[in-house]
Amino acid sequence: MTPYLLIRGGRPLRGEIRVDGMKNAALPILFALILVRDEVTLEDLPPVTDIETTLQILCKMGAETKRLSPNAIRIQTKNVDPDAVPLSLTSTLRGSSYLLGAGLGRFGRIATGIPGGCNFGTRPLDQHFRLLESMGATIECENGILRTTAPRGLHSATVRLDFPSVGATVNGILAAALAEGTTVIANAAREPHIVDLANFLNACGAEISGAGSPCVTIRGVSKLHGTRYRVVPDMIEAGTYLCAACATGGKLRLSNLCPDHLGAVVSPLRKMGAEIVVSEKHLTVERSGNLYGTVLETAPYPGFPTDLQPQFAPLLCLSRGGGRIYERVWKSRFQYTAELCRMGGTVLLADDFADFPGGDRLQGACVRATDLRGGAALLIAGLCAEGETELGEIHHIERGYPDFLKKLTDVGADISKKDEKLTKS
Ligand code: EPU
Repeated sequence: MTPYLLIRGGRPLRGEIRVDGMKNAALPILFALILVRDEVTLEDLPPVTDIETTLQILCKMGAETKRLSPNAIRIQTKNVDPDAVPLSLTSTLRGSSYLLGAGLGRFGRIATGIPGGCNFGTRPLDQHFRLLESMGATIECENGILRTTAPRGLHSATVRLDFPSVGATVNGILAAALAEGTTVIANAAREPHIVDLANFLNACGAEISGAGSPCVTIRGVSKLHGTRYRVVPDMIEAGTYLCAACATGGKLRLSNLCPDHLGAVVSPLRKMGAEIVVSEKHLTVERSGNLYGTVLETAPYPGFPTDLQPQFAPLLCLSRGGGRIYERVWKSRFQYTAELCRMGGTVLLADDFADFPGGDRLQGACVRATDLRGGAALLIAGLCAEGETELGEIHHIERGYPDFLKKLTDVGADISKKDEKLTKS
């Protein structure tokens, strides 16, 4: 029996939600621990399954961990063994590709399963490979296993990425942190998680500059030391709750966030009719009047994030005038729209955009999460739909949203997790 969510829609969300640390920042930081042999304490590690899987990978490789609280952990990777990588576990998440950079940096070699994660069609790693190969690594892929080695050690390089790939930028930073010489990554990803990884490594003694700009420079050092570090708040989790508040016509105060990271999200929400008040570490969102449509186009940071486009879809369905979403990062990120249509949404799909005529009445239905953010979109749709929604395949949502059931019920959502068979299927 796979668990599902029973959502009784139509209740405006009201209250306060604390945003957790960012999954996509915590993942590279956890793999970066392989480079740091000393003890590290990490705080605000989000309690989600992708992070638990990563901790399992590190433990199976020989890391010693002590849980200090649900969100804090002490880890030491002194005894980590590159031959003990649990290959099947690494194939369940995308972030495991970071083992390539970290393994090369610490051991000059590693093997890992082909990374998994959300299914958006093909998810190539050519930019990762080109960057690592230019630093002296060779990479082979055979029988679902990626093997990398640097027979003569890693050396510095200057590389320009074809696309500002988050993963390739992370792998480049990890590989270069302990490599000889100065590595330059041009057209690098600028996401806050890249900045957080650089801040973490610098706190351990690395010499990384330019993170957050298109050009990251890494001067290799001979050793990194332990530290205590707090993971940056999750802009995607925050953006998801902003959308949920607007969709239900509620009022939420979000705490523990970096409003600067949400510029590309706040501005379309305001256009759509939300009132948003921003202070240093808080943000209050309220929507009491009409919802208006808009046009969104995803882009690498600081553009509108692809990881938030699905959560805007229920808003566009309900809006007056409708709108359009152009998806410029992942070609196949509209699978969730088929499920949204089962709830009464109208979505017209083209090659790289989706049109939402708007004016829909969303109604409860039996739907399934297609991926992490698509699942969040259907959850939002369920919260503002008339009647009951049964949302299946919620393991996708659990990969990236810490305590979302408690957080949502605390602000008035009528939502519960059921283990029995879906009744409407
Ligand atoms: N790409 C290539 N070659 C590569 C790498 C990427 O062509 O070698 C292309 C991809 O196919 C895609 C684009 O470049 O079209 C962006 O890929 P990127 O490498 O930036 O993405 P990623 O590192 O695989 C991370 C997040 C994703 C998020 C993207 C974009 C993690 C673990 N994942 O993926 O997060 O969508 O950046 O911001 O950090 C999510 O959290 O729901 C999620 C999917």
